[in-house]
Amino acid sequence: MSAEVLAPDTTRKHHLQNYEETYRHFDWKEVEKNFSWYETGKVNAAYEAIDRHAEGNRRDKVALFYSDANREEQLTFGELKDLSNQFGNVLRKIGVEKGDRVFIFMPRSPELYVSLLGTVKIGAIVGPLFEAFMEGAVRDRLEDSGASTIVTTPELLDRVPVDDLPLLEHVILVGGEGELPDGYYRYEDEMKRASTELEIEWVDREDGLILHYTSGSTGKPKGVLHVHNAMIQHLQTGKWVLDLQEDDIYWCTADPGWVTGTSYGVWAPWLNGVTNVIRGGRFDPDDWYATLEKYKVTVWYSAPTAFRMLMGAGEAVAKKYDLSSVRHILSVGEPLNPEVVRWGMKAYNRRIHDNWWMTETGGILISNYPSMPLKPGSMGRPIPGVVASIVDDEGNELPPNEMGNLAIRKGWPSMMRAIWNREEKYKSYFTDNGWYISGDSAYRDEEGYFWFQGRVDDVIMTSGERVGPFEVESKLVEHPAVAEAGVIGKPDPVRGEIIKAFVSLREGYEPSDELKGEIRQFVKTKLAAHAAPREIEFKDKLPKTRSGKIMRRVLKAWELDLPTGDLSTMED
Ligand code: WT7
Repeated sequence: MSAEVLAPDTTRKHHLQNYEETYRHFDWKEVEKNFSWYETGKVNAAYEAIDRHAEGNRRDKVALFYSDANREEQLTFGELKDLSNQFGNVLRKIGVEKGDRVFIFMPRSPELYVSLLGTVKIGAIVGPLFEAFMEGAVRDRLEDSGASTIVTTPELLDRVPVDDLPLLEHVILVGGEGELPDGYYRYEDEMKRASTELEIEWVDREDGLILHYTSGSTGKPKGVLHVHNAMIQHLQTGKWVLDLQEDDIYWCTADPGWVTGTSYGVWAPWLNGVTNVIRGGRFDPDDWYATLEKYKVTVWYSAPTAFRMLMGAGEAVAKKYDLSSVRHILSVGEPLNPEVVRWGMKAYNRRIHDNWWMTETGGILISNYPSMPLKPGSMGRPIPGVVASIVDDEGNELPPNEMGNLAIRKGWPSMMRAIWNREEKYKSYFTDNGWYISGDSAYRDEEGYFWFQGRVDDVIMTSGERVGPFEVESKLVEHPAVAEAGVIGKPDPVRGEIIKAFVSLREGYEPSDELKGEIRQFVKTKLAAHAAPREIEFKDKLPKTRSGKIMRRVLKAWELDLPTGDLSTMED
């Protein structure tokens, strides 16, 4: 265990000033009082995030600074209120109703955020899809959720198999020109005609808000449903963890196709009435530093892969820019190496605060706080109002320093409320005695800091993105040359893990580098670029159980030169 401790920031007052004290006394009821349902029993997350500020004293405050290589725009809370009202009216007019699933499949842009908020305002459930998804991935998600509507761009439209999706009724295109067939609408034209006055759909706090698809180790991606009630946690972690204050300029680098990009790229900053920076385009060290400098970003939330790549680019690049505005840096998604934290102290003169959560948890559960000593390599301590522990497979709590399942007491505000159409799957996350089992293994030290050890299952975390090996394997075997495939995460110094595929070929195919390239390209174009294996190795035969299940654990042991463990279930 590391004895290294980095002292807290004592130069200013933080929202969470005394962790122990707050942890002992805090009750989520205190936060609920912030929202309208306290009086009316009804609520709407988009109203709380935008309209409330627009109707209060933040009407002309900048809510969104958007930029990419071709565009630069800003929207105030007042403007965002009007635009999202208009989009809500567009949806209503074409017949979208409360509870319908509306997917948004496009690169980051102001229109993406307007569509997301407008969808929520009419009580529909929004499904943000990462722009890099290819047809197969898009189809799976629209089909599983029974989506009625998709908002996309003309460039991405050929990845939406509209004719194969009988429930998909409406396609709204952002950009482009010319006549459109029935069921298609042009965003710009519809918005022009729509009123800025909208009757918001007031919903119950347990009504559906957002659907994020995520991968497990088996089966297709599952739709994780979050409800409006999650806003309690988004508001409060925005204070305790992001430490958001009125004058902050906040930048979360995640795309809204992933949960970080909505919980902390939409809800947490805007519920707190804070100015939000969105930068489109791909990662690039100079571009990112220039963004921090240009907007004078004060709070910066990113991921270990990005910090490792910035470290790789060197301190000299960081020093070219004036980063003095940045006062608080956070990281999530994978283990944050102590080395990266140390480098951050040198390059930025700031601590990087690791925190832990996952798509299913909807919001941050374990974190380092500005007012608390930080142990590089640890994810920190549970937020007040949340009980985290280490339990064995039966749900019995384990003592400090013993490794086990990282588990959370059921019932925090932003907990998922369903796996779409899969009741059994949802139940399987919880033990009979009330623990949510995360699928991560960890231990807790005597001071209550949690230390991540790994995934319990085979899920791969590559460059901060969660990839289910099964989904990749299924795509691989669709290639005519592939008989069988087993996919693992192989440790990588920059990406955390890379995807490695072991492949056995069908009769008549010979191993070659060319074939590797072709198979890789196949997954890239059929599934998603980030899910394509960086390494492919051909094998005559793959290790399998007697029931025919590919033993990824054995593949991993081969790869890492480790003992293969118990092989009693392996076929001869
Ligand atoms: C998995 C969840 C919502 C955050 C973005 C990823 C891993 C997350 C940490 C951390 C080590 C972490 C876990 C988790 N993870 N945060 N601080 N240290 N690992 O969300 O795609 O649902 O992935 O990310 O393995 O289970 P996700």
